[in-house]
Amino acid sequence: MKILYATSEAVPFCKTGGLADVAGSLPAALAAQGVETAVVLPLYRRVREQFGPELEYLCYDYVDLAWRRSYCGLFRLIRDGVTYYFLDNEQYFNRPALYGYMDDGERFGFFSRAVVRMLHHMAFWPDVIHCNDWQTALIPIYLKDDGVREERFRSIRTVMTIHNIEYQGRYGTEVVGDLFGLDHGWVDDGTIMMDGDVNLMKAAVLCADAVTAVSPSYAEELKYAFFAHGLESVMRRCAYKLSGVLNGIDMKRYDPAADQLIAANYSAADLSGKAKDKAELQRMMGLREEPDTPIIAVVSRLVSHKGLDLIREVFHDIMELPVQMVVLGQGDQQYQEFFTWAQSQYPGRMAARIDYSEALSMAIYSGADLFLMPSKSEPCGLSQMIAMRYGTVPIVREVGGLKDTVHPYEAWRDAGNGFTFAAYNSGDMLFVIRQAVGLYRDYQEQFRRLQQRCMAGDFSWGRSAGEYVRIYCGITGQPAPQFQREEPAAAPAQPEEPPAQPEKGPEQPKLTGKPEQAKLAGKPEQPKLTGKPEQAKLAGKPEQAKLAGKPEQAKLTGKPKQAKLTGKPERAKLTAKPDQPKLTETAGQPAQSGEPEKKPRAKKTAARKPAGKKSAAAKPAAKKGSAAEKKTAADKAKE
Ligand code: GLC
Repeated sequence: MKILYATSEAVPFCKTGGLADVAGSLPAALAAQGVETAVVLPLYRRVREQFGPELEYLCYDYVDLAWRRSYCGLFRLIRDGVTYYFLDNEQYFNRPALYGYMDDGERFGFFSRAVVRMLHHMAFWPDVIHCNDWQTALIPIYLKDDGVREERFRSIRTVMTIHNIEYQGRYGTEVVGDLFGLDHGWVDDGTIMMDGDVNLMKAAVLCADAVTAVSPSYAEELKYAFFAHGLESVMRRCAYKLSGVLNGIDMKRYDPAADQLIAANYSAADLSGKAKDKAELQRMMGLREEPDTPIIAVVSRLVSHKGLDLIREVFHDIMELPVQMVVLGQGDQQYQEFFTWAQSQYPGRMAARIDYSEALSMAIYSGADLFLMPSKSEPCGLSQMIAMRYGTVPIVREVGGLKDTVHPYEAWRDAGNGFTFAAYNSGDMLFVIRQAVGLYRDYQEQFRRLQQRCMAGDFSWGRSAGEYVRIYCGITGQPAPQFQREEPAAAPAQPEEPPAQPEKGPEQPKLTGKPEQAKLAGKPEQPKLTGKPEQAKLAGKPEQAKLAGKPEQAKLTGKPKQAKLTGKPERAKLTAKPDQPKLTETAGQPAQSGEPEKKPRAKKTAARKPAGKKSAAAKPAAKKGSAAEKKTAADKAKE
């Protein structure tokens, strides 16, 4: 089974949020389940700058979208058994940031179109394209659109994963033909329309074969107006194909016993390293070095759905407790100002860093005692899982993925792995903060066992990847790939019974040398990708001739199927392109200057305004029709 995971960000290449973490770890976990997995993402400037030498140039082609015909380069990089394809167009992606431009709709329209139109160059014809959030929401729509005319697209199934329904890709109707190159029928029959706007997320939910939310609770919540940002009726209508699959975290990357970013390593059996990390954190943040004062941590984007107004409401009540507090994050001005002010009110007890820092966040996860996450809504949330992995006990609201990963502490039977409250109410939050602080100070042994239960949780991708595989099987009708798990099933996040001997409880062995991780390392995925019969079929396309100089291509060109394929009208059209001869140069890079379509597009782009109320396009465009067009990533890589 072949899965192409389409995403607008993925660790370690580019990241603005949790999507990147998921896209950076789920594909490898799928590969470990025996699924052939490739990822496709835009070739942003920062990717080229950091990974340029590792990128392998494959070929280029032109992507037709509405009246534009745009260059698209294809690059490849192989990592941890997963093939990463990068789609290059400097006008769209050679920019300092990933998002926030007035032409974001056009940029990701191009990306989605290019994913579909560049498929035959990838030597990887997928059974399923797994799309993520609004940036790739046009892919299921384009596949349906193209599928009407070209049979080869009809067999591809799609999964749409909703990481956050707040961002839907909303635009005015004029974009349908002019920007996305879609027939007006998509508007007329209402598929792409929602409350008078074009709404890409809504159309993708309708068109995809399966829709997933990033936690089971979020999948349920999406049927209600409070969470669905206007799409609740669509989600209810599509409930038959909607499921929730809990995200995992990269258990190897986030391992307190091996993490290189923290001051001292530790395990659940021996938490002494955590005490050192706490002292280090207090030094770093200018807090009093008090080993017995619990540190409450917040590591979060400082935005309203994270529930920060609850913290603001009862901040002084929290600080009346014998606690210290650290906050790391950036975001809305109001919260940045509040936490900066809060720090000035409690010197030595409260420290805020308005920043995004991987190193500091790890120092906080390892050095803090309690992790506060009172989100108003939380599709999944990864930081509570990371905190638990580092023995930092979460205090969360029972919502979305927080509800699915944190189970309330029950003193009477010594169970649970955190503190939770249900209503979005600062008094309720304060109540459980007091409980947590009380347990920390007065019942140290119980608190230590609570920490150990947190650390014993299985937050690996193993189980969730299996659920995705079941979904892929369901929509393709294919059997699950054969693979051997080394362990029958993932352990529950919270043991039913308290561990009799926490110091050497049964959880400990799980913390090191996870079976999933072992499987991930060194899996020979790639050889599988090149030698398959499907690829041989694809290789016969005229486009492959462009690649003729490359070793892989040479292997593929001799196959008998090719003759059959070259006769197709579509292909014939492609071979007739005037640009094709240029492509036969083995290492030749296309000269983008002189592309007839570039100039008109640049003008048009400049004139366009975002029409959507909730479009991510918040800021003015950086530049348009820029010099960026003139030079490709390939050119630079060549230098
Ligand atoms: C989004 C959600 C977050 C989730 C992440 C990864 O950022 O807000 O809850 O964990 O996506 O799916």
